[in-house]
Amino acid sequence: MIMRQITPDPIRAEYARLSHQYDHRWSFYVSQSVEETLRRVRVQPSDRVLDIGCGTGALLRSLRRRYPRIELTGVDASAEMLAIAAEKLRQGARLCLASAPRLPFRDETFDLVVSTSALHYFRDPGRVLAEMRRVLRPQGRIALTDWCRDFWTSRLLDRLLRRFNAAHYRAYALAQCAEMLWQAGLHPELLERYKIDWLWGLMTVVAVKPPD
Ligand SMILES: C[S@@+](CC[C@H](N)C(=O)[O-])C[C@H]1O[C@@H](n2cnc3c(N)ncnc32)[C@H](O)[C@@H]1O
Repeated sequence: MIMRQITPDPIRAEYARLSHQYDHRWSFYVSQSVEETLRRVRVQPSDRVLDIGCGTGALLRSLRRRYPRIELTGVDASAEMLAIAAEKLRQGARLCLASAPRLPFRDETFDLVVSTSALHYFRDPGRVLAEMRRVLRPQGRIALTDWCRDFWTSRLLDRLLRRFNAAHYRAYALAQCAEMLWQAGLHPELLERYKIDWLWGLMTVVAVKPPD
């Protein structure tokens, strides 16, 4: 289950350093981005949900509160972030230290795959989307939220971080994200960009895995 070698070191180093401040420092951003994501995707209490790049478990905890019996799994490349998620969730979710391009799950294991604020770290997003598709059952859904390059503030942040932060990879415009989903064999059914304050311009996309 542990696949440290394929997640770039700068990401693990970044989150080993940030993990203890993460919830406090990013509390507004995380609560808003998680809520905006969950407002846009249909969740059934019987769903098997996978959160990729689950971090300290904010989205999983929010789902656990709404649906006490839902089956939750979180994956993250940072052991430090997962340790905090484990404290918060207790036994409420299965947590795995693994890398998004190689998910340690069988085909068609989940009804819903979500990922918030992790897409801009993925070196090979096409491969990650293909993995998401693989572990999703036919007609299951993917919900992705991340910074949206259609907003000038996000373009500026993206440019600065590409230059000065080794963990960051790149942010996308909504149309680029939709194109990547089609390429991965996923059918977008919701594509939305929005701001949560003057700085943060986000997008949420929901896509369906078509039946075989
Ligand atoms: C900005 S945090 C977002 C955490 C959480 N989803 C949230 O909304 O608060 C990004 C997370 O993605 C994880 N991550 C980045 N690249 C990853 C990869 N290739 N595989 C798994 N997790 C990854 C990081 O370790 C980090 O915990």
